[in-house]
Amino acid sequence: MSLDLHVDPDKCVGCGMCVADCNTRAIELDGSSRTPRWAENGEARCFRCQHCLAICPTGALSIMGRSADGSAARVRGPEPSELLNLIKCRRSCRSYRREGVDKATLDKLKDMLAWVPTGVNDHRLFFGFIDDVEVMEKFRKDFLARLLELIQRNAPGAERFGRYRERLIHGDDVIFRGAPHMVLACTPADAPCADIDPVIALSYFELYAQSLGLGTLWCGLFLWSIQLMPEFLPRFGMPEGYVPGYAMMFGNTGLNYRRSTQPPPVLLYSMQG
Ligand SMILES: Cc1cc2nc3c(=O)[nH]c(=O)nc-3n(C[C@H](O)[C@H](O)[C@H](O)COP(=O)(O)O)c2cc1C
Repeated sequence: MSLDLHVDPDKCVGCGMCVADCNTRAIELDGSSRTPRWAENGEARCFRCQHCLAICPTGALSIMGRSADGSAARVRGPEPSELLNLIKCRRSCRSYRREGVDKATLDKLKDMLAWVPTGVNDHRLFFGFIDDVEVMEKFRKDFLARLLELIQRNAPGAERFGRYRERLIHGDDVIFRGAPHMVLACTPADAPCADIDPVIALSYFELYAQSLGLGTLWCGLFLWSIQLMPEFLPRFGMPEGYVPGYAMMFGNTGLNYRRSTQPPPVLLYSMQG
């Protein structure tokens, strides 16, 4: 596919910022016109990060059919103190209202996912959502029934659920926590950073969702369960060659945390000399 680098000569001021910021040295400044062009083999080296589009001060450059008009303008903010407060006051939510999140909010959350960073700018993430509350209810029922069956007959791997065994037997939904929605973030098994990309994506998802007033819950127990019951994976519509990365529950919550927690300090070290 041609990457279609275009520069509007009337707008380009020849500042060279696009060239300086190009991670793969794919573009260079034309010696006479001082506008950017592909360097030798540059098109093959380009890893499609679009930094050239993002940094151009005059919006002169377009690439891959994307021009400055289609980009979000960078505005100042959020205030660092507000962002820090969101990080400090983000909580794991284990109590949800039954009603689903409205479609406009779901769409906002899904659209945001296109902007999460991926190793080597791979961007082949896939997100399997459960949008519909009834679908979630059926999935939860089927999933918990099968998990319970495996736990009760001590199937290999089920011992991991030791501390939750009694609660599961008594019908306590310790996996989904009654959430009306969930998302399973997946990558192709051969993605350069397959282990970490889904986790980064869900970290962004969590903070954005909580800024929109929703509750979220990382769900390692779901990952353990799906390893025991891979027959449930096809319901998420993962493309061929993809593997599940991590799962997050989310939805409206009645909980209202009034303050941050006070975690122990992290271990830090500053290398000397
Ligand atoms: C990778 C990861 C997996 C987690 N898995 C679960 C889980 O399966 N079930 C659950 O109730 N909480 C899960 N949690 C939430 C943690 O238990 C939670 O972060 C901890 O209780 C502290 O609460 P806080 O997130 O409100 O600070 C997980 C958190 C992380 C980061």
